[in-house]
Amino acid sequence: NWTIENFIEMEVEKIQEIVGDRNVLCALSGGVDSSVVAALIHKAIGDQLTCIFVDHGLLRKNEADDVMKVFADDFHMNIIKVDAKDRFLSKLEGVDDPEKKRKIIGNEFIYVFDDEATKLKDMDFLAQGTLYTDIIESGTETAQTIKSHHNVGGLPENMQFELIEPLNTLFKDEVRELGSQLGIPDRIIWRQPFPGPGLAIRVLGAITEEKLEIVRESDAILREEIAKAGLDRDIWQYFTVLPNIRSVGVMGDARTYDYTIGIRAVTSIDGMTSDWARIPWDVLEKVSTRLVNDVQHINRVVYDITSKPPATIEWE
Ligand code: XMP
Repeated sequence: NWTIENFIEMEVEKIQEIVGDRNVLCALSGGVDSSVVAALIHKAIGDQLTCIFVDHGLLRKNEADDVMKVFADDFHMNIIKVDAKDRFLSKLEGVDDPEKKRKIIGNEFIYVFDDEATKLKDMDFLAQGTLYTDIIESGTETAQTIKSHHNVGGLPENMQFELIEPLNTLFKDEVRELGSQLGIPDRIIWRQPFPGPGLAIRVLGAITEEKLEIVRESDAILREEIAKAGLDRDIWQYFTVLPNIRSVGVMGDARTYDYTIGIRAVTSIDGMTSDWARIPWDVLEKVSTRLVNDVQHINRVVYDITSKPPATIEWE
């Protein structure tokens, strides 16, 4: 009978057999799938696994440090963390079209990964956290196009790797259970979906470091309050967006002219459709007060009450 314990035992043996004394490379993002695939392969072959973690400077507050803490410090994996913020931000300078931003980030990710991978000798395999549902979804052409713009972790075709995809028979809930068994902390296992292009698509229009900081700080506050209210597992995604709007406000007796921040929080089964989350008003009030008090340059907070369709979950 199929159990997670049996699955781990069988997959570990299979991976050891396939890999032998060779080496495996993995692109670790800190998301559920890549984290679980890395932990599983690490269990099988230990130091023969090397992970590359690209920090594109568009991650959430403390995210990069947390990924390193869990996988480098606690799991003792070989991880190469690439600080590529300057590379990404300079490529994105002045670019305001959402699809262009995505394309630049996707391409740059591949270049950065490729640069690191070629420095490493003797890498024979590339591990990927492909799930069963990913395989089904890429069956039709439409789905493939959706996937290609969603998958920042896509890799160059000229890379000479054999693929290892040990999760490709599993559904998401099984991957979570597997991750738990492997000792991955709940905050990673139950992490809300986070887009590959990261905060870049939550600063509407052209990105600046100041705007990224506003969205990063406000996102951290929202996440903290949602967790405190015990709502983090009920809401599919919750985050802040910085539209390109400034409005008049008043602080003390001074007039301000500062940014509006949007809160987006949705319930959903699979991200294809969604409804706006009915967050209790007292929670929203607390978030709003903290956002204007604690984050520089915010003087107005709005709550997005559109479903998908007709809106999308992200604003870009
Ligand atoms: P939308 O905004 O299209 O989002 O309703 C649906 C789901 O996909 C995520 N999303 C992305 N994920 N790269 C990703 O990896 C992207 O470019 C991207 N755009 C949207 C979004 O966060 C939601 O979960």
